[in-house]
Amino acid sequence: MYLSSLRLTNFRNFADERLTIPREGVAIVGDNGQGKTNLLEAIYYLEIFRSFRGAPDDQLVRFGEDVCRVEGLVGGAGEARTIAAAYDRRARRKKVTVDGVEPDRIGDALGRVGVVMFSPADVALVSGSPAGRRRFLDIVLSLTERHYLEDLQRYRQILLQRNAVLRAGESTALVSAWNPGLVRAGSRVVAARLRWVRSRRDSFAARIREIANGSDAALEFDPSLPLDEEESGDDLDRVVATFESELARTADREQRRGATLVGPHRDDLRMRAASGGHGEWVDLRVYGSGGQQRTAAVALRMVEADTLRERLGSEPVILLDDVFAELDVGRSQRILRWVDREAPAQVIITAPKPADIELRGGALPVWSIRGGHVESL
Ligand SMILES: Nc1ncnc2c1ncn2[C@@H]1O[C@H](COP(=O)(O)OP(=O)(O)OP(=O)(O)O)[C@@H](O)[C@H]1O
Ligand SMILES: [Mg+2]
Repeated sequence: MYLSSLRLTNFRNFADERLTIPREGVAIVGDNGQGKTNLLEAIYYLEIFRSFRGAPDDQLVRFGEDVCRVEGLVGGAGEARTIAAAYDRRARRKKVTVDGVEPDRIGDALGRVGVVMFSPADVALVSGSPAGRRRFLDIVLSLTERHYLEDLQRYRQILLQRNAVLRAGESTALVSAWNPGLVRAGSRVVAARLRWVRSRRDSFAARIREIANGSDAALEFDPSLPLDEEESGDDLDRVVATFESELARTADREQRRGATLVGPHRDDLRMRAASGGHGEWVDLRVYGSGGQQRTAAVALRMVEADTLRERLGSEPVILLDDVFAELDVGRSQRILRWVDREAPAQVIITAPKPADIELRGGALPVWSIRGGHVESL
């Protein structure tokens, strides 16, 4: 997949920019605060129609304006399509179109660009709260698994209602009326997460060994339900049975606490690494150094890229936002080598200094960015 042109209107600090993006990609260089991250945020907006930074849409509209708009022409697999998204701050309305046609639901248009974003903020995937890791799983799986988003939305809706009933102190009978729906939607979510982690943990370990020059690491699913990752057999049946028995087991406690205590809303991912010298495995969230955490975050994104590539049947666009800050030279070079190897993927990379991005033998065109204006050098 590749983005051949991009138009930004009143998006963050861009007033009206039209860019023609080279097939191989581009390196974007600019001082702090000039719009590098904003530009990548705009591209990623066409993938998930939300800010990758988790910013509310209001904040994306240029100061003093009412409507922001991003439009991109995407090529790949023999076809080209135009994806556009606009947000009107006053009307609080978002409009998404694919080739000029508005889909029934915005969810139907997710993932049409095929793009993976590497950001310095990704370190929070490793060091931060479980909610960030669930969000990661939810985005990857919404983009690659049929019905995942539907199941997730259904689960959230039922969970809200069930929790309201629990909070109101209603009887067990009223609470458990929600159980079949909760279990049905929630178990599909859990089974999809379980399958994804199982299918990706070897490549996660391999990526870390590659970037960190041989260090061992592991990616594990840490589900709220007591599930054995290794156990074979049908995942969904097993999850359903476990979910049902856990709800029964926690029924008294959830009455006292006024909330649903088990289910995918409490899942987590765990990343562990062999610590230097002792041969012991440590949880990177708690014991990882800044660089180790960053390395694990990069490896997670690489694994996301693998997942997208399989779903798309072609290379995803790779966005790299200033990712080498805080990494030693060896690790940075090995990440760049991975990007080089991903060719023919289009890569859009930003950095404060040109020296940071010696990519593809220096063959990538370089643009400079200043105050929301882009110029080719
Ligand atoms: N809605 C908005 N309207 C206008 N300007 C905005 C808006 N939101 C953010 N900005 C401006 O965009 C600039 C930040 O841009 P961005 O985060 O892309 O910088 P950057 O080039 O990535 O910098 P760094 O190298 O520090 O990461 C800030 O100056 C900020 O004030
Ligand atoms: Mg930035």
